[in-house]
Amino acid sequence: MYYPQIRLRRRRLSPAVRKMLKETRLAVEELIYPLFVRSGTGIREPVESMPGVFRLSPDLLLEEVAAAREEGILAILLFGIPDTKDEAASGAYDEQGVVQDAVRRLKAHFPELIVITDVCLCEYTSHGHCGVVRGKEIVNDETLPLLAQTALSHARAGADFVAPSDMMDGRVKAIREKLDFNGFTNTGIISYAAKFASAFYGPFREAAGSAPSFGDRRSYQMNPANRREALEEVLQDLAEGADMVMVKPALAYLDIIREVRERVLCPLVAYNVSGEYALVKAAAARGWIDEKQIVLEMLTGIKRAGADLIITYYARDVARWLREG
Ligand code: PBG
Repeated sequence: MYYPQIRLRRRRLSPAVRKMLKETRLAVEELIYPLFVRSGTGIREPVESMPGVFRLSPDLLLEEVAAAREEGILAILLFGIPDTKDEAASGAYDEQGVVQDAVRRLKAHFPELIVITDVCLCEYTSHGHCGVVRGKEIVNDETLPLLAQTALSHARAGADFVAPSDMMDGRVKAIREKLDFNGFTNTGIISYAAKFASAFYGPFREAAGSAPSFGDRRSYQMNPANRREALEEVLQDLAEGADMVMVKPALAYLDIIREVRERVLCPLVAYNVSGEYALVKAAAARGWIDEKQIVLEMLTGIKRAGADLIITYYARDVARWLREG
């Protein structure tokens, strides 16, 4: 008779042992809940490709946030859906814009809530690109002042962190300087540092009505095939003053999360994006997968890869599932 000397199964025998030896834990404090706000009252427009996600008017946004707070969620990431769009993305930096207005109301009701605002032009430009367009070109340097102005307007409204997602070169520095010169030295920057040109953003673009009207985002978002370049982006944003960096999307980029984790000390955020959410929702609706187990496994994988914080449309469900144990 042969007795294996090493039996790893001893460490998996009982629920208590498994619980004690668990290496990666999810906690509600690490979740960031993305929300879409539009003008009006009493509006709760479903996003077709993201079941359970809605474009909310500010009054219902406050209700949603109140419920999320009850469940222990500390932070939200806010996206604005403006009524009108133009070439100059003027809605993005309008002091009375949809995000600015929502942030003021959120902060008035929930002073403790951590409000993170997405800083980008694509929801506000008529062409849907993240920067100023000249001919067919997305012009980097002309975009920077608009991004900085947008960030400043969010800071003035009360945002705790601004999160530039445009992928223009030099935007973190432009935003940091603009905030500092205007007295907002305490407003932080979470940069979408390694943001890939991904098909996983499809449902988001339906939600935000922000699909580019011509071309694609590959001249500014990163090639999914590139690993070293992701690190260059991260190091550059940190050198320019980012307080935290993000990798986006998450699931097809777990190696990037791990790589960044091993090379930098700052908090690392992963974005479990709209397409990742939609895939799970679609399969769950057909009864093909166990939604709860799949989501918890995915988020555990993202944390195990090295993320500190996870932005996920599943935040409220996860908060509930964690409470259920
Ligand atoms: C804006 C922005 C996008 C997302 C976050 N900020 C869309 C894009 O870059 O096309 C995607 C989020 C998601 O898919 O959940 N630039």
